[in-house]
Amino acid sequence: MSENFDSVIKGGTLVNHDGIGKRDIGVRGGRIAAIGDIAAASAGEVIDAAGLHVLPGVIDSQVHFREPGAEHKETLADGSRSAVLGGVTAVFEMPNTDPLTTSAEALADKVARGRKGMFCDFAFYVGATRKNIDDLPELERLPGAAGVKVFMGSSTGNLLVDDEESLSRVLAAISRRAAFHSEDEARLVERQGVRREGDPASHTEWRDPQAALISTRRLVRLAREHGARVHVLHISTGEEMEFLSQHKDVASVEATPQHLTFTVPEAYEALGAKAQMNPPLRDAAHQRRLWWGLDQGVVDVLGSDHAPHTLEEKAQSYPASPSGMPGVQTLVPIMLDHVNAGRLSLERFVDLTSHGPQRIFGITSKGRIAAGYDADFTIVDMAEERTIEDDWIASKCGWTPFAGRSVTGWPKGTIIRGRRVMWEDEILGQAGGEPVRFVEALGG
Ligand code: DOR
Repeated sequence: MSENFDSVIKGGTLVNHDGIGKRDIGVRGGRIAAIGDIAAASAGEVIDAAGLHVLPGVIDSQVHFREPGAEHKETLADGSRSAVLGGVTAVFEMPNTDPLTTSAEALADKVARGRKGMFCDFAFYVGATRKNIDDLPELERLPGAAGVKVFMGSSTGNLLVDDEESLSRVLAAISRRAAFHSEDEARLVERQGVRREGDPASHTEWRDPQAALISTRRLVRLAREHGARVHVLHISTGEEMEFLSQHKDVASVEATPQHLTFTVPEAYEALGAKAQMNPPLRDAAHQRRLWWGLDQGVVDVLGSDHAPHTLEEKAQSYPASPSGMPGVQTLVPIMLDHVNAGRLSLERFVDLTSHGPQRIFGITSKGRIAAGYDADFTIVDMAEERTIEDDWIASKCGWTPFAGRSVTGWPKGTIIRGRRVMWEDEILGQAGGEPVRFVEALGG
């Protein structure tokens, strides 16, 4: 090919919709201009990817970056630095900030902050409340909106819509796919006495599999009644995975690296309240059925549910200790290690972290290595052996539940719209994040 490119990614092994193979990529104006055998001489910059795999940019469709309101835990800048160091090119951020992201003003404020300070591309969920239901059709289409998020059970922050009438109104109002935290609030309240002071392991007993299943059954029933599409976040139980496998026409499914990697009681023994999250980590029998769902294609996407809290906050005695753990930086290495262990293929990883988010959220021009798409790439070394340590973590919270874990497979480079943003553990250049665009909000 004799065209000129701003850059060429040369000599890498591409993992794409047509399989795995050696191909170069020519980039022009931040977009993919050509895929194939490309002469290095035709490029301004040549990125040598020999010996590396070039994946479509990894999209993490569930993170909590805490800004505005709890910048001591995380900021949009630090959260996004953590993302790009971990090979993540775009994030969808959650609305349980302070103020809550429940209005056009709050969303516009986050988008402006993102443009100013984020290193990766971004979109923000709009939180549903009982008061903003009539505004949701407009809010879900605004620039930078990832769609609507509903907490059906209480978690960090005070977003909650748990009554039948309000949930029905939300599902009747919206037209994009909305994301749900699915745990049954009534059961959580009723069973609060199950928690044992000072014992984070009782968190899993309190927020039991029934609480998750009751809520997910109800959600699917309401989705059917209203002809709505629902995205069920962080599935933790075998029963839900089995149930959702029967309802793929209306429900998409997220799994997290934490639920796929940690089991209880071991995680509480090793990590104490650092292992406390909602929905909780569960035992090996549940985890086996999560992997069944991943293997059988029931799971559509992986989300990290990056939910940082400081070590001081986590050191409070349970149940005062907050729920959630960081994860945006460790999603890629933890899952590549699972790939190397034979638990999923590299193609399936790409399906879960690029094609899946594009398909279920209707992202324009991301999630695929194809001419005309954004030049977003996660470049990985499948053979690199590393030990994950706290001092590698750029999140403001400064820790990871995976500290001390040795993995094989590591993110070497993060390229966003043609810009090399991370290379070999170093962040290059300034923040340059842009809002992700969606098919159903192109007029926004
Ligand atoms: O463990 C969790 N922490 N689960 C959630 O749903 C929210 C999150 C947070 O924001 O801390």
